[in-house]
Amino acid sequence: MIAVKRIFRAQPEDLAAQLSGAAVSDREDSRMDVAEDGAAAAAAWDAQPADLKLRTIAAFLQRHPEPLTPAELAPLAITNDDFVQALGKVQPSAKREGFATVPGVTWDDIGALGRVREELRMAVVEPIRRPEVFEQVGITAPAGVLLWGPPGNGKTLLAKAIANESHTNFISVKGGELMSKYVGDSERAVRQVFSRARASSPCVVFFDELDALCSRRGGEQSEASARVVNTLLTEIDGMEARKKVYVIAATNRPDIIDPAMLRPGRLDRLLYVELPTPGERADILRTLAKRTPLADDVDLAAVAADSRCDGFSGADLAGLVREASVAALRAVVLDGAAAGARIRVTAAHFAAALGRTAPSVSTVDMRRYEALRKLYGS
Ligand SMILES: Nc1ncnc2c1ncn2[C@@H]1O[C@H](COP(=O)(O)OP(=O)(O)OP(=O)(O)O)[C@@H](O)[C@H]1O
Ligand SMILES: [Mg+2]
Repeated sequence: MIAVKRIFRAQPEDLAAQLSGAAVSDREDSRMDVAEDGAAAAAAWDAQPADLKLRTIAAFLQRHPEPLTPAELAPLAITNDDFVQALGKVQPSAKREGFATVPGVTWDDIGALGRVREELRMAVVEPIRRPEVFEQVGITAPAGVLLWGPPGNGKTLLAKAIANESHTNFISVKGGELMSKYVGDSERAVRQVFSRARASSPCVVFFDELDALCSRRGGEQSEASARVVNTLLTEIDGMEARKKVYVIAATNRPDIIDPAMLRPGRLDRLLYVELPTPGERADILRTLAKRTPLADDVDLAAVAADSRCDGFSGADLAGLVREASVAALRAVVLDGAAAGARIRVTAAHFAAALGRTAPSVSTVDMRRYEALRKLYGS
């Protein structure tokens, strides 16, 4: 296509006619002019809006129903440059659907969580970047990682950052998305995810909310979801074929995930993503408020150490920053502060926000997570 378009660019007498509004009187004559000034004409052509280009091409075809002469066709050859241009336009068919565009989250957007970050780097980022180092110690099969913990502490955020930092293909699947009411459909969807991943390895597959896809077999569970679990186990077990396909999953209910999924060789790295400590809260607040215009009197460390922040998750802290920002905005928008006044989020706005935000993870839930942590380790 790129080469053919070049032919049209080499025939811009019609474009010139369109632009000047004059009819092309003598084809041969104008062709001569074009030969002299081909580059300028090509540039003029490129600058035209798409609909004008289309009209020009249509007019050209109507005026010249006869085939192009061999001389006119001579420049039609595909050059290396054409291939290079085409590379940017053609997307591999394996990547056409189901592939997440690599999210814009980087490590810099995540506060605290240093330990989990390091573990993920060792389990996923580095094996992709420097496989030879891992082969030296005999590690060839990728480890599977399950991030688990109370909601809103950055599990999904971590997976997004991994996608970005490992510079690799990334398929993100929400557990519930693959479940279909039609017999056999969900299994097929699971198999398709893995075959796409293999086709575009190295690839990271991220199953968010794994509990929806892979709950414990037996008991009140339906036959259909047991089959989905079996398919998932088979795919994850295909070790040899799974070379360079890294599986990360996230859940806040590890207790309802089928235990077979957590055996060695499958999702065997369980990483507990916990509620932040007061020090970590300060770090998360600083990260979250990076783009917030803070007044000089705001002390984020003091906000983080406030007892009303106890039990706050990362998401609660994000809510807190948002509340404070809205309070600052309200002063400008509703109370009609002078137009053009610079918006500043002050300590008073944070104090008001603290009064309005409550922890989203209850103490009962936290006790449950602590008990689970004894069971699954961290
Ligand atoms: N460590 C963190 N640093 C910065 N922001 C955070 C952090 N943890 C959580 N957040 C904020 O909380 C929001 C929710 O986080 P995320 O979606 O990753 O939680 P999750 O652990 O996946 O929760 P769930 O279990 O409910 O899926 C993020 O979009 C972000 O704004
Ligand atoms: Mg999540």
